[in-house]
Amino acid sequence: MHMLHVSCVQLAIVLFLLAQTECSGGISAHHPNETGITRCITTESCNRFSDQQVPEFLSSLHNLRYLSLSHSSFNGRIPPQLGNLSNLRYFSIDSNFGETYSTDISWLSRLSSLEYLDMSFVNLSTIVHWVPTVNMLRSLKFLSLSFCELRTSPDSLLHSNLTSLETLEISGNRFNKHVSPNWFWDVTNLKHLGVLACQFHGRFPDQLGSMTSIVVLNLSGNNLVGMIPSNLNNLCNLEELFLSAININGSIAEFFERLPDCSRSKLRTLVLTMSNLTGSLPAKLEPFSNLTWLDLSGNNLTGPVPMWIGELTKLTDLELSSNNLDGIMNENHLSGLVSLERLSLTFNSIAIVVNSTWVPPFSLTDVELSSCILGPEFPMWLRWQTRIFNLDISNTSISDKVPDWFWKISSSVYTLNIRNNQISGLLPSTMEFMAATAMDLSYNQFSGPIPKLPINLTNLDLSRNRLSGPLPADFGAPGLETLFLFDNYISGTIPSLCKFQFLWLVDISGNKLTGSIPDCSFNTSTKNTSLNIVNLSLGNNKLSGKFPSFLQNCQTLVFLDLANNQLSGPLPVWIGEKLPSLAFLRLRSNMFYGHIPVELTKLVNLQYLDLAYNNISGSLPESFVNFKGMVVTRDYHNDDKIPDPFASGMSSGDNEMMDFTDNFNVVTKGQEQLYTGEIIYMVNLDLSCNNIIGQIPEEIGTLVALKNLNLSWNAFSGNIPDKIGALVQVESLDLSHNDLSGEIPNSLSALTSLSHLNLSYNNLSGKVPSGNQLRTLDDQPSIYIGNPGLCGPPLSKSCSQTELVPSAQKDHEDESEKVFFSLAMGIGYVMGIWIVLCIFLFQRKWRAICFSFYDSTYDRIYVQVAVTWASFKFYK
Ligand SMILES: *[C@@H]1O[C@H](CO)[C@@H](O)[C@H](O)[C@H]1NC(C)=O
Ligand SMILES: *[C@@H]1O[C@H](CO)[C@@H](O)[C@H](O)[C@H]1NC(C)=O
Ligand SMILES: *[C@@H]1O[C@H](CO)[C@@H](O)[C@H](O)[C@H]1NC(C)=O
Ligand SMILES: *[C@@H]1O[C@H](CO)[C@@H](O)[C@H](O)[C@H]1NC(C)=O
Ligand SMILES: *[C@@H]1O[C@H](CO)[C@@H](O)[C@H](O)[C@H]1NC(C)=O
Ligand SMILES: *[C@@H]1O[C@H](CO)[C@@H](O)[C@H](O)[C@H]1NC(C)=O
Ligand SMILES: *[C@@H]1O[C@H](CO)[C@@H](O)[C@H](O)[C@H]1NC(C)=O
Ligand SMILES: *[C@@H]1O[C@H](CO)[C@@H](O)[C@H](O)[C@H]1NC(C)=O
Ligand SMILES: *[C@@H]1O[C@H](CO)[C@@H](O)[C@H](O)[C@H]1NC(C)=O
Ligand SMILES: *[C@@H]1O[C@H](CO)[C@@H](O)[C@H](O)[C@H]1NC(C)=O
Repeated sequence: MHMLHVSCVQLAIVLFLLAQTECSGGISAHHPNETGITRCITTESCNRFSDQQVPEFLSSLHNLRYLSLSHSSFNGRIPPQLGNLSNLRYFSIDSNFGETYSTDISWLSRLSSLEYLDMSFVNLSTIVHWVPTVNMLRSLKFLSLSFCELRTSPDSLLHSNLTSLETLEISGNRFNKHVSPNWFWDVTNLKHLGVLACQFHGRFPDQLGSMTSIVVLNLSGNNLVGMIPSNLNNLCNLEELFLSAININGSIAEFFERLPDCSRSKLRTLVLTMSNLTGSLPAKLEPFSNLTWLDLSGNNLTGPVPMWIGELTKLTDLELSSNNLDGIMNENHLSGLVSLERLSLTFNSIAIVVNSTWVPPFSLTDVELSSCILGPEFPMWLRWQTRIFNLDISNTSISDKVPDWFWKISSSVYTLNIRNNQISGLLPSTMEFMAATAMDLSYNQFSGPIPKLPINLTNLDLSRNRLSGPLPADFGAPGLETLFLFDNYISGTIPSLCKFQFLWLVDISGNKLTGSIPDCSFNTSTKNTSLNIVNLSLGNNKLSGKFPSFLQNCQTLVFLDLANNQLSGPLPVWIGEKLPSLAFLRLRSNMFYGHIPVELTKLVNLQYLDLAYNNISGSLPESFVNFKGMVVTRDYHNDDKIPDPFASGMSSGDNEMMDFTDNFNVVTKGQEQLYTGEIIYMVNLDLSCNNIIGQIPEEIGTLVALKNLNLSWNAFSGNIPDKIGALVQVESLDLSHNDLSGEIPNSLSALTSLSHLNLSYNNLSGKVPSGNQLRTLDDQPSIYIGNPGLCGPPLSKSCSQTELVPSAQKDHEDESEKVFFSLAMGIGYVMGIWIVLCIFLFQRKWRAICFSFYDSTYDRIYVQVAVTWASFKFYK
């Protein structure tokens, strides 16, 4: 006897008892009466039974007619003794809680009275001949074996016993065969056929035409190709049709024509998402008078939304998102839709043009109109929509002041997205009483202070507005997970982030914040002393004080940007130990001083270190080689350190607040800094404009993943290490304005990725190496300016010439040459910059990967890991 979970046995036994005593006979064999069951369970005391007792019990329940183990915690093998319950009419079990399985279902065939059988999610992967087994059940009306890991589906039944079968649900199995022939096409009395995602392929089967009893048909998610068959005229009972995610690849007009006329007034559900339908919706159509759910999203429909939509008076769900529809929808389209609750037109070019005095007849719960045209005035008709849960009017060309009523109707909205409009006005002082869990008001013109946040808010984006004043002392929103406030005019100090246990993305960069970054005063009695911040961006403010020490509690930190502030003090030695995941550290343009702590080199994930424009002194630690992030080109798809929004498998739901296309998994701020997914592949070491002395360690050559190396404007001396030629990925290399001497290593000419080089203003001497790559650089010969000892092309000074000239004359020539040279180089330099800038203007990619590291106005790199709005799912 296989082990059964004790609690399941208990529950099962209790159910048996109940069924036999109090509930037996009282419960319909066709349909579970859940209230009856619950009552029984709660009034019976639970006795414990051993596994050995189960068969005994089963045999004592000979008269049992109804058995439901669904929603129990049944787990393990289904006892074959169940086959003894020959009077059973109803049996259901599902295995959401664990692995329920059966390796032999022959016991089923003995349940000859069975009418209802639901074994969805039971693992039947080893069972091959399941169809003959169920074919023994002559009385069967309902059969559900969805997600049972079945793999076989025979072509036909020699003789079908299943004449009573009305419902067949076998979705989510992997039959991987042609959709016809198939045994179930012989079961012509079927009313309900669900074969969603069964790995069936082939053309739409003509057999569909003989399924004249069919009421509900779901063939979604199979690899079917082509138009539905033309012989569907006799499907006069059709009420629900689900044909999503298949490749119909034909016109919507033809599809409508092939739907049976006789069921036109019965059809309630028509779901055809992502089925490759093309063409325009027909201008005239005999109405589907009973249609409640029409979903044509994700097809390739063009043209306007026809007027007959307005005749669908029973329609509750209208979903036309992600097509190429255009034209105008006005009162005539909408006034008839008295039952409408969910309107989804996102990602089309539909303009909704209605009189501002129009009062809609419907009361919507979901409004998804992103990228439609609603503006420029605020759409007044929304005023009457007081039941909305999910409102997305992002990118809808509204250019107006926010009306007071808007905050009233949105006070009960859970997900509010008005991103990317030109909406102005103040945020409501009553914001804290709003029900929102996610709010995106970014890229608008909101001004004034940020009020206390809604208590249940988890995701907030107010970036790119004109918000000013200090942040509220008490944020509210204890469950906050993401906070985007960048590019506003927020002043004052940063409140402590320490009490936000769930916060993981924070970007308040580009504001006017002052003061120091507050510390966390976790006293030892506090249980939870760690924070979960992954991305902290506070760059481009006026923050002062020391490196924030509260980060010692942020073991999860991956991105840290504090650039362009007035932070000072030494770099803390604890970074190496307390921030083990840190990959991006951007501290440029501050006033940090002191040595680069050796401990920093413990950060094996660090791939982006920017300490430029500080007062760092001392020499470079040789243990730089420990930056494995700069040694190995990383594959982020297999890396769990940086959350990959795609890998998480969560989409944003229908409200497209934080949705992003494939090449947008990392977004950087502003057009100049638009990194389309490249930032996580950027490997950068920028120590420019400090006071670092000593040699450039030979070991630098081990950081072979580097794309940008900038050591300019320091006091490095000695030779350029020969191993620098190992940096084969480096695209830009700047060693200018140091005291480097000796010859330029020939290995430099091996750097085939190099597109920007600067060695100017050092003490380099000898012949300029003549590699192919060096010859192609745009900005030469300014590369070499300020190194009087250099000679050879592209410099005008020839090497042999210098050697031959007597020394007295040489000085003189040198002098005049210097003048000429610097003049020429001056022009060359300006020309060089100019050329680079021109290229820069036209080549976005180039700009992104290379140039932005030179010009401080273009270098605000900012990483915004996309937010997944899992919570949306719950409010649909
Ligand atoms: C369920 O059973 C209870 C009592 O057994 C009965 O009062 C109730 O009407 C039944 N409900 C349904 C939906 O059949
Ligand atoms: C119950 O079924 C098992 C086989 O599954 C059989 O061995 C046993 O004899 C049956 N018991 C009774 C009481 O019918
Ligand atoms: C189903 O059972 C088979 C064989 O017993 C096993 O290999 C498989 O992993 C199980 N599937 C699940 C989802 O547990
Ligand atoms: C039909 O069911 C009966 C018993 O219910 C069984 O004996 C017979 O073999 C079944 N027919 C087929 C073709 O499986
Ligand atoms: C698939 O069909 C069933 C009915 O068989 C229906 O209840 C269900 O909602 C459908 N699922 C999808 C994803 O369309
Ligand atoms: C849609 O149809 C086109 C041909 O018109 C085909 O190339 C494309 O692969 C189809 N798309 C899908 C998702 O099947
Ligand atoms: C329309 O649907 C309702 C249920 O939503 C049903 O009661 C009614 O009979 C249907 N009308 C027709 C003509 O089928
Ligand atoms: C949509 O249709 C247009 C022409 O009708 C075609 O050019 C385009 O490739 C189609 N797009 C898809 C995704 O099938
Ligand atoms: C809007 O409606 C009002 C009153 O219903 C009417 O007077 C006005 O002419 C309408 N405006 C437009 C542009 O149709
Ligand atoms: C916040 O969430 C709780 C629990 O889900 C709920 O009871 C409460 O009403 C919500 N608050 C607001 C303002 O919606």
